[in-house]
Amino acid sequence: MERRVNSLLSKLICLLMVMGVASARPTVVGKVPNTKANYYGERLRRNLLANGLGSTPPMGWNSWNHFFCNISEDVIKQAADVLVSSGLSKLGYKYVNIDDCWAEQVRNSHGHLEANKKTFPSGIKALADYVHSKGLKLGIYSSAGYYTCSKQMPGSLGHEETDARTFASWGIDYLKYDNCYTDGSKPMERYPVMTRALMKAGRPIYYSLCEWGDMHPSLWGFQVGNSWRTTGDIQDTFDSVMARADANEVYADYARPGGWNDPDMLEVGNGGMTKDEYIIHFSLWAISKAPLLLGCDVRNLTKETMEIIGNKEVIAINQDPLGVQAKKVREDVEVWAGPLSHYRFVVLLVNRNQWPASPSAHLTDIGLPPKTTVIARDLWKHENLPKPVKESISTDLAPYTCKMYLLTPIS
Ligand SMILES: *[C@@H]1O[C@H](CO)[C@@H](O)[C@H](O)[C@H]1NC(C)=O
Ligand SMILES: *[C@@H]1O[C@H](CO)[C@@H](O)[C@H](O)[C@H]1NC(C)=O
Repeated sequence: MERRVNSLLSKLICLLMVMGVASARPTVVGKVPNTKANYYGERLRRNLLANGLGSTPPMGWNSWNHFFCNISEDVIKQAADVLVSSGLSKLGYKYVNIDDCWAEQVRNSHGHLEANKKTFPSGIKALADYVHSKGLKLGIYSSAGYYTCSKQMPGSLGHEETDARTFASWGIDYLKYDNCYTDGSKPMERYPVMTRALMKAGRPIYYSLCEWGDMHPSLWGFQVGNSWRTTGDIQDTFDSVMARADANEVYADYARPGGWNDPDMLEVGNGGMTKDEYIIHFSLWAISKAPLLLGCDVRNLTKETMEIIGNKEVIAINQDPLGVQAKKVREDVEVWAGPLSHYRFVVLLVNRNQWPASPSAHLTDIGLPPKTTVIARDLWKHENLPKPVKESISTDLAPYTCKMYLLTPIS
């Protein structure tokens, strides 16, 4: 059902874009010539959120996908310890993000949010100090509503400045801001209130809008946050992953350094998919320039999970400074591709079906001029194809597997 709705929605959005709704992006007013540079310059000037963060997609860990509400300061500290001891922090996984359920049910007598006394007895400031002492960053969570989604703690609606100041005083580096128990006003009204509050609080805090894609945040999120969810919550199933990747792809043109589409956090390592399916999941998130936020119990990483989330070459695709989100360039055989810095390209061939497939990716579909020759590197095998590639790259794919190549033109 969800899949059907998603695909209908995607079709509708595509249609609207074709019909020119995409031109509803903020346009330059007055006599300024309508060049691309001016367009982005104007947007930058009007950007509420000049915090300098998110020049590449954020990487780290978040408590929700594995622990849900069952969290404590010990769990968060252990996650931080493991990010360092496993070597993951060196690969870029720096954010340690606490999700829902970290606070007392009601505000204190000063109207401030307070850490849950049973599960976070040392308080969030102490936790931030601990996490910072390991060279990592601490993230926290609230909602643009009266409660957070668990309803186990207050939301920040109407308390934005107080809460932003509290977060800044604790040393928070990242805020995930959910969309539950609202007053019925539009997210375009509620989310910028927190943007301004964060800017006033005087600490650079990465601002992650978790609006679920309801009001197409890709169209307005860049001025408000560093990333915006394009979808509802992910689940640890292959169908859920693919539905999110598809819905997120529709908005590829809106992602860029400082503002990313977010198809939700990773499920790799949570046990609901095969290794090959998790490889597809991680590959799609990498090429989509999605935040790479681990969602498993990092205290108990298997060798298999480490191989996936620790793949440096795939992480480098996600963190490429050009910051262009890959798109589907062929739907029938599922070829995704996108440009990288230094005139290189990434291509992902995915078999999402239960039958073997032998897809080809044409270099012209990927955006290369005819007659180009490329070196193709298999980023999961860590080896170059034996011969340079002309015209197209073909491969055999078992059911539910993918191949990911880095293409470097040589002539
Ligand atoms: C909650 O977490 C604690 C400690 O991390 C664990 O012992 C317990 O089994 C968890 N409970 C549930 C319901 O997952
Ligand atoms: C650790 O991971 C293994 C393999 O996925 C699993 O069987 C085991 O139950 C996990 N242990 C804990 C404490 O979660």
